[in-house]
Amino acid sequence: MKQITIIDRQRGSMEKLENQLRGRGYEVRSFRDEDVALKEIIECSPDLVISELALRQMKGPEILREIKKIDSRIPVIIITEHSNTQDAIDSMREGAYDYFAKPLDTEKTLQAIEKALDLFRDEDAETAAPLRADLQAGQGNSLCGRSPEMLEIYKRVGQVAASNAAVLIQGQSGTGKELIAHAIHENSERSKGPFLAVNCAAIPETLLESELFGYERGAFTGATTRKLGKFEAASGGTMFLDEIGDMSLSIQAKVLRVLQDKAFERLGGRETVRADTRIVAATNKSLVDCMKAGTFRVDLFYRLKVVSIFLPPLRERGDDILLLADYFVNKYNYQLVKKVRGMSAKAAEMLRDYDWPGNVRELENNIQTAILLNRTGTLSCEDFPLHMERQEHKSRQVEDAAPGELAASFRQILEPVFGTLAVDFRGAVYDRAVQDFERALLGLALERVGGNQVKASKLLGISRNTLRNRIERFGGMENL
Ligand SMILES: Nc1ncnc2c1ncn2[C@@H]1O[C@H](COP(=O)(O)OP(=O)(O)OP(=O)(O)O)[C@@H](O)[C@H]1O
Ligand SMILES: [Mg+2]
Repeated sequence: MKQITIIDRQRGSMEKLENQLRGRGYEVRSFRDEDVALKEIIECSPDLVISELALRQMKGPEILREIKKIDSRIPVIIITEHSNTQDAIDSMREGAYDYFAKPLDTEKTLQAIEKALDLFRDEDAETAAPLRADLQAGQGNSLCGRSPEMLEIYKRVGQVAASNAAVLIQGQSGTGKELIAHAIHENSERSKGPFLAVNCAAIPETLLESELFGYERGAFTGATTRKLGKFEAASGGTMFLDEIGDMSLSIQAKVLRVLQDKAFERLGGRETVRADTRIVAATNKSLVDCMKAGTFRVDLFYRLKVVSIFLPPLRERGDDILLLADYFVNKYNYQLVKKVRGMSAKAAEMLRDYDWPGNVRELENNIQTAILLNRTGTLSCEDFPLHMERQEHKSRQVEDAAPGELAASFRQILEPVFGTLAVDFRGAVYDRAVQDFERALLGLALERVGGNQVKASKLLGISRNTLRNRIERFGGMENL
């Protein structure tokens, strides 16, 4: 029988989970005191531990370190009272198997528990995360957001930070890609090294090349001294390649070599330079589209994509919109020496309902302007620039929703192939067309959310089971 140890300061707060686990045939032992629990872990070596972060004496990831000291292979699932950016990152970095915030989604937690037990069977024990007790918590992290979508991102940051793997961050403009790149650096062992950023879209090709790889004296007219490139200067640290979708093919080839061999030559030089630089790249373009258009190398894409992070648009982050709004109110109160206390319920509702095509950056700009304009101490709808845009937006939405407009677009697509369809699938045209339409729709939805089925089902408005069944019917995701 598999044994599970639960460390829970307020005994009973995980009662439902405990009962479900017992019901599924696990032996569950629950402790309120971490010292007693640790003794028990030494003696009985359970198959899995579920622990809160804030315990009687131990705070933060300390409990994780203690458990990992006893046996680094025991999977540990961390539960917290409130989801918090740094806790999620720290827990994953210290080797937690997963991280959940209360109120617990029992079903999701059970799934994680069973998956962990499955993965950590004895023969797979080597795959368990190593003990990383010596890492310091990252400083200066100002990431804000508690939505489940962002929690997944923090977990990911914690998981990847400690490795040297290249990371690709994708997301619309203003979703916080640069902030995430910083968080990866700050939470890595390279945090004392440099973090250098280059915007590949903003610099002309020849300049970008010398900016990245440096040049030797005499490499071109005006090169009077040797200059180190950013790859070299960032050695021991992190190089952030922003807007990598705009990088030219010839520079892409050189970046690929840096990724593969950590080697390159300065412009006009023969000597091979080696640099220990981690690459984090970001783009708001679809690299899949760029590859189709032949402007992005497929090998570089796969090399970068080993670890990829998709930042969701702000409108998909629910209450995070208001949380971020408060965060920016504080920030600009301080910067602009103002004393705004908050916002009216109507204003909050307006922010919550807006579409935010410019994402967090647009929200930040809106709050900044509102604070500047405000004279009453409470932000109201009129203080926000989006107040006017929203009016326009609303009328546009009505137009967008005009009946039959979508159908008219589909008709345009269908018309040229309809003749062939009618001949090839006579008597089965309906089934065939609807099926392929569905296939394309699922493919697009999955692509948009980075292949995450939970998110795709939410986006489509169908249950996860339905989505899974459909995917299976089409013969797997690769056939969409
Ligand atoms: N989760 C967050 N918490 C606090 N501030 C955030 C968050 N996400 C983004 N911001 C702020 O929003 C602004 C835009 O973020 P950032 O520059 O990282 O976006 P980006 O994805 O790189 O955008 P672009 O594609 O336009 O370069 C920044 O001022 C950043 O500090
Ligand atoms: Mg950016």
